[in-house]
Amino acid sequence: MTDGPHRLPPLRFAANALDPVISPRTLQHHHGKHHRGYVDALNALVTGTVWADMSLQETITATRHQVANRKVYNNAAQAWNHAFYWQSLRPGGGGDPPAAIKPLIEAAFGSVKACTDALAAAAAERLGSGWVWLVDHGGQLAVVHTANGDGPATLTCRPLLVLDVWEHAYYLDYQERRAAYVKAVLDKLLDWGFAADNLGQESRRTAMTTEDGGC
Ligand code: FE2
Repeated sequence: MTDGPHRLPPLRFAANALDPVISPRTLQHHHGKHHRGYVDALNALVTGTVWADMSLQETITATRHQVANRKVYNNAAQAWNHAFYWQSLRPGGGGDPPAAIKPLIEAAFGSVKACTDALAAAAAERLGSGWVWLVDHGGQLAVVHTANGDGPATLTCRPLLVLDVWEHAYYLDYQERRAAYVKAVLDKLLDWGFAADNLGQESRRTAMTTEDGGC
């Protein structure tokens, strides 16, 4: 691990806690190699620079339009997205969302199943590596997907949940069957409570929104 301002956030569950939907091997590799790799690469890039004292959000905002600093942007964005992804999952997840968010889901999609269907459809539509987000756009929920490391900094809406649809998220367990990974995560791991919590944190998430992109 490199020295630097950023740290790999620990997982809030054990390595085997998401099995069999996400195996311990995938979890350890994804968090311990891929996520750690983004954090370490970012630390190596920002140490001794103007970005050294910035948060991940600040670094993403500062570099998102700077072609020459694309590596800084990509690693900061991937570090942020992964931290958000781990919080979007919990053992024994899925099922019925809490009352704080369920009415908004039903208003936007018609039903919880229609919402998870929309998330699955977005995962299928996302060609190549990327992320699928449930977002709040001024009280209206929607599903969007982004490419590579792009995420909240390219959206004008507030993220509530995210699914990682990079191959490294599922290949060891599902090979090329992204849809099977997504369905299992939606049904058994999705932390609706995290989405509900994010609905109540307007100021923190607003900091990640920009004038760019849209929902
Ligand atoms: Fe990932």
